Amino acid sequence: MDAIKNITTRSSARELIEPHPSAQEMETVFKAALRAPDHAWLKPSRFIQISGNGRNKLSQIFIKTAHELNKELTETQILKYTEAPFRAPMIIILISNYKEHPKVPPIEQIISTGCAGQNILLALNALGYGGMWRTGTFAFNEVISKHLGLEKSAQVIGYIYAGTRTGKNKKIPIHDVKDYVDVWE
Ligand SMILES: Cc1cc2nc3c(=O)[nH]c(=O)nc-3n(C[C@H](O)[C@H](O)[C@H](O)COP(=O)(O)O)c2cc1C
Repeated sequence: MDAIKNITTRSSARELIEPHPSAQEMETVFKAALRAPDHAWLKPSRFIQISGNGRNKLSQIFIKTAHELNKELTETQILKYTEAPFRAPMIIILISNYKEHPKVPPIEQIISTGCAGQNILLALNALGYGGMWRTGTFAFNEVISKHLGLEKSAQVIGYIYAGTRTGKNKKIPIHDVKDYVDVWE
């Protein structure tokens, strides 16, 4: 796919079904992720790729985390969190693992992992798959980091749900660039 068209026509896919990208396709997706801009090449980004039965493991981790965060979970919340990993055939957890450096503060390293996330969405789109970035209860908190077995310096910055698009494609909004850009010349 033309590179500019891939960027300007990407949209998030709420409904995702099998098939998910193959191992070989995911190698390409992660190569794209690892070409995100990265000050001092600290390589803060880490990923967990989950599919098949791995989603049961994630589901259990979500429930354990939710119970620890909130002792009074409702039945509806328990069901929602249990089923969350099954909204797509594949989930990529985006993790930013802060590396101490005199010139690269935590925010820059989180932004770098954010760029890696966008590269993942674009690579999925170029390969014909859909994706959607989600956060919510299980991002940016130490309890989920603990249950995922992450280092103390690492945090979850999001979940990319991936697979084959289904359902209606939403209309991509047309933006008037002038509303967002000041040009100085
Ligand atoms: C950091 C980040 C976190 C997000 N978290 C959620 C989320 O938890 N739930 C959700 O419905 N959309 C979330 N979104 C938005 C969607 O991924 C998506 O970008 C949005 O629906 C707009 O669709 P588009 O990407 O097709 O323009 C998040 C986006 C970003 C960048």
